[in-house]
Amino acid sequence: PVTLTYKVYPTSIATAEAGALLFSETASQVSQARGRVRIAISGGSTPKTMFKILADPKYPYLTETPWDKIDLFFVDERTVPPTDSDSNYRMTRENLLDFVPLPPAQVHRIEGELDPEVAASKYESDLRNSFKLEGAETPTFDLLFLGMGDDGHTASLFPHTEGLNEISRLAIANHVPQKDTWRVTLTWPVINQSRDVAFLIEGSAKAKLLNEVFTGPYQPETYPSQIIRPASGKLTLLIDKAVAEYLPAP
Ligand code: 6PG
Repeated sequence: PVTLTYKVYPTSIATAEAGALLFSETASQVSQARGRVRIAISGGSTPKTMFKILADPKYPYLTETPWDKIDLFFVDERTVPPTDSDSNYRMTRENLLDFVPLPPAQVHRIEGELDPEVAASKYESDLRNSFKLEGAETPTFDLLFLGMGDDGHTASLFPHTEGLNEISRLAIANHVPQKDTWRVTLTWPVINQSRDVAFLIEGSAKAKLLNEVFTGPYQPETYPSQIIRPASGKLTLLIDKAVAEYLPAP
C-alpha cells in the first residue's frame, strides 16, 4: 500500500519552491547520513522553475545545498543532441548546471545523440558503476522527481508503449508511436525503488486528468503515471491549486 500525500500550493512558483526545498533538504540530510546523494530529475517544462530557484542567489539553496556531494541523474531523455532545444540535459544545464558548483563528473547525462538502444545500455553501465551494483542489483535513488504529461505519461513511459512491460532492465529505449519517436528512460521498477518520489504537476489543463489518474481506477496501460507505487510506501504530489481543482477535499 502506498500513502499518497498531496501538497497543494497557491501558485506555480510556490510549487517549484517546494520542489527546491525538498531537493536541498534531502541533499543535506542524505549527505550527513550517508555521504553521497543521488537524485534523479525529469525534463519537460515543470522542473524548469525549480531549477531556476535552486540556482538563484536570492534563495538559500545555492549556498546551502551540498552540491559537491550530489550525483545528478536523468529520469529520461529525448533522442536529440545535448545542444538541441528539446534536450532535457540542455534545459537542466541552462537553468541549473551553469550556475551551481556541481562537479561535471557528477552529472550523469543520457546521450540522446546516440542510437537509443546504445544510449540506454551506456546509461545502464553508468548506473551500475556509479551505484557499484553487482549482478541483478538495482539502483536506489535518494530522491526522484517526475512530471506527468497531458496523456498521463510519466518519465518516458507513454500510454500503451512496450516500455511499460520492461521489468528487468534499468534503462531502456522506448518507442513512442504516438510521437513517432524514441525516448530513453529509466524503467518503472527502478523508479519505484527510489527512497522518495515526488511528482511536480501544475496547471488547470491537467486538472481533470490528475484527478482521474490519482483517484480513479487502476489502468496503467492508459495512465502510466499510475504504475508509480514506490516500495518505500510514500508518494508525494507537489501541485498547484489550479491542477488540484477536481481532487476530493482531504
Ligand atoms: C520529458 C519528461 C516527461 C515530463 C512530462 C511533463 O522529458 O518530457 O521527463 O515525463 O515530465 O512530459 O512535462 P511538462 O512538465 O512539460 O508538462
